[in-house]
Amino acid sequence: MTEQKTTSMLMRPWFLGLVLVLGVAVGVGATALLLNVFERKVEAQATFVNLVPVTEDDTDPAKWGQNWPRQYDSYKKTAVSTRTRFGGHGGSEALPEQKIERDPWLRRMFLGYAFSIDYRDRRGHAYMLADQEQTERQSKPQSGSCLHCHAAVMPLYRKLGDGDAMKGFESTHAMTYKETNAKLHELGEAHPVSCVDCHEPNTMKLRVTRPGFIKGIQALAESSAEVPHLPSILAWRESNRREPYDPNTMASRGEMRSFACGQCHVEYYCSSDFPLTFPWGNGLTVEQQEDFWNETKLSSGARFYDYKHKETGAEILKAQHPEFELWSQGIHARSGVSCSDCHMPYMRDGALKVSDHWVRSPLLNISRACQSCHHFSEEEMAARVAVIQDRNHQLLQNGGKAITDLIDAIVAAKEAGASDQQLQAAREFQRKAQWRLDFIAAENSMGFHAPQEAARILGEASDLARQGVVAAMNWQTN
Ligand code: HEC
Ligand code: HEC
Ligand code: HEC
Ligand code: HEC
Ligand code: HEC
Repeated sequence: MTEQKTTSMLMRPWFLGLVLVLGVAVGVGATALLLNVFERKVEAQATFVNLVPVTEDDTDPAKWGQNWPRQYDSYKKTAVSTRTRFGGHGGSEALPEQKIERDPWLRRMFLGYAFSIDYRDRRGHAYMLADQEQTERQSKPQSGSCLHCHAAVMPLYRKLGDGDAMKGFESTHAMTYKETNAKLHELGEAHPVSCVDCHEPNTMKLRVTRPGFIKGIQALAESSAEVPHLPSILAWRESNRREPYDPNTMASRGEMRSFACGQCHVEYYCSSDFPLTFPWGNGLTVEQQEDFWNETKLSSGARFYDYKHKETGAEILKAQHPEFELWSQGIHARSGVSCSDCHMPYMRDGALKVSDHWVRSPLLNISRACQSCHHFSEEEMAARVAVIQDRNHQLLQNGGKAITDLIDAIVAAKEAGASDQQLQAAREFQRKAQWRLDFIAAENSMGFHAPQEAARILGEASDLARQGVVAAMNWQTN
């Protein structure tokens, strides 16, 4: 009975039609899935056949390179010297050009601080440890915190903290750089940023390891600052917040493609008074970070500053490469375009898509770095960047002139007999103006990462410096 019924139903035309439609749909679906699975298998074969197992303690990239030779080969190219108009490092001399000689106002701003001794252009990742060991800034005692961003340092942190990396990290600021560096070399392996810093061993999952970043991004999540470009933080804020925000489990892959770089390419405090700190507790803008520093106290109880300016006595904030923060204010971040999209674009290797681990200026690689999204010629893309950078450079020079005039004006007031009280207003203007100017000078994209924001900050810097000149000239009325 049942069989008969079934048979007769199967013969009905509507049913046959349905079967046909479903069949086509399943067929298309299956083909797509198969293609997808096939692609994944090819990727998986290339990516996850481990010839040698690697662990958390393997900081030597050569060992990982046996499993992932394509990524390792491009990683090694960070030792090649390159140059663009504003970026990278050219020439074959041992050390990059001095920034402070090219722009003398920089040296003037930094008088009283180690950056006035030696401040050079950055270069490829391969050099980060050697350049740090060699800088003449080491002629002044530096803190162990410096290693956080210049070496594959996690095994050392674990060793110093008896297995607890965060504890180890928190002990290094009080140690000298020389002592911490010696301990790194004693471990037998001292390498620049390595595979283990951005990847979980064996699974190769992208991750962040740096305590400074993890603490900084948690503080940012807990603030109420606007972060439209970081949806996982917005989601965490909406949640019950039982666990602290954890980038490694909560962030999207797209966010991780920028967080990996935000471990180091950020503004920070790095000295012996307290552990390395990313000033993100109020947000990522130049003003929010300034507020954070203004609220921070040194162990002496005094308001935070990096150094007192040698000529004027102003309490200065030194800015350091805030690439992550400036990028955060730009249209690319807001559109979900990550650091890796431009600085580690995919390249084809046969049937494989491989991330280019030769981290460098995208201007050396416009076809892959930009033309994947922008359908204009290479020349046109280069020209668009040049327009942004030229304008930014001009505003920066104007700011340099303004800050020099302010320092001159304060020195003149001092010589004319102004008291500390009478210099107070002008010194505060110097602190504010210099922080803004240095923020964009120390940022390494010459304004590209967020052009309008960079121009806004430089406009404010010049305005504040000029207000400072007026305050210094009128010291007698203060
Ligand atoms: C839309 C593309 C794009 C994105 C996204 C991007 N950058 Fe850049 N970056 C550039 C360009 C263009 C320059 C200027 C390069 C030059 O002048 O040679 C640059 C410059 C730099 C430099 C200096 C390079 C050098 O050769 O001196 C660093 C460091 C840097 N970016 C880091 C980052 C970090 C970190 C992020 C993410 C937080 C990021 N960038 C996001 C395009 C991008
Ligand atoms: C562990 C810290 C660390 C991490 C993580 C890191 N960088 Fe760097 N980066 C540095 C240091 C330090 C230098 C400067 C090296 C020198 O001058 O010796 C540098 C230099 C660069 C340069 C300049 C290269 C050149 O040839 O001039 C670029 C571009 C850059 N980084 C981009 C990135 C991007 C993009 C990411 C994320 C994918 C990233 N970095 C991750 C610390 C880091
Ligand atoms: C939070 C991460 C971080 C910490 C901490 C850090 N650096 Fe760097 N350093 C970088 C990055 C990123 C660059 C490349 C970008 C640039 O040069 O602006 C760099 C570049 C440099 C360079 C090459 C360019 C130059 O400035 O002459 C030297 C030398 C250097 N750092 C020394 C130090 C010393 C000394 C300390 C400790 C006082 C230190 N760094 C702490 C991230 C860091
Ligand atoms: C500064 C961070 C950083 C370092 C250091 C680093 N990688 Fe990566 N790696 C990335 C990023 C970003 C991606 C892209 C991941 C994604 O989009 O999911 C990636 C992707 C990969 C992938 C997946 C396939 C691909 O190419 O996209 C492999 C395999 C890999 N890296 C191997 C290595 C090896 C081997 C080393 C050391 C020689 C290394 N990585 C060092 C950031 C890094
Ligand atoms: C992953 C895609 C992607 C990549 C890669 C990319 N861009 Fe963009 N770019 C965008 C989007 C999205 C916008 C926002 C405008 C829009 O929505 O059309 C944008 C905007 C811009 C703008 C206008 C900026 C402004 O402030 O108005 C410039 C200039 C630009 N990109 C240059 C570049 C350059 C140069 C590169 C390579 C170094 C690059 N882009 C790489 C997606 C990308």
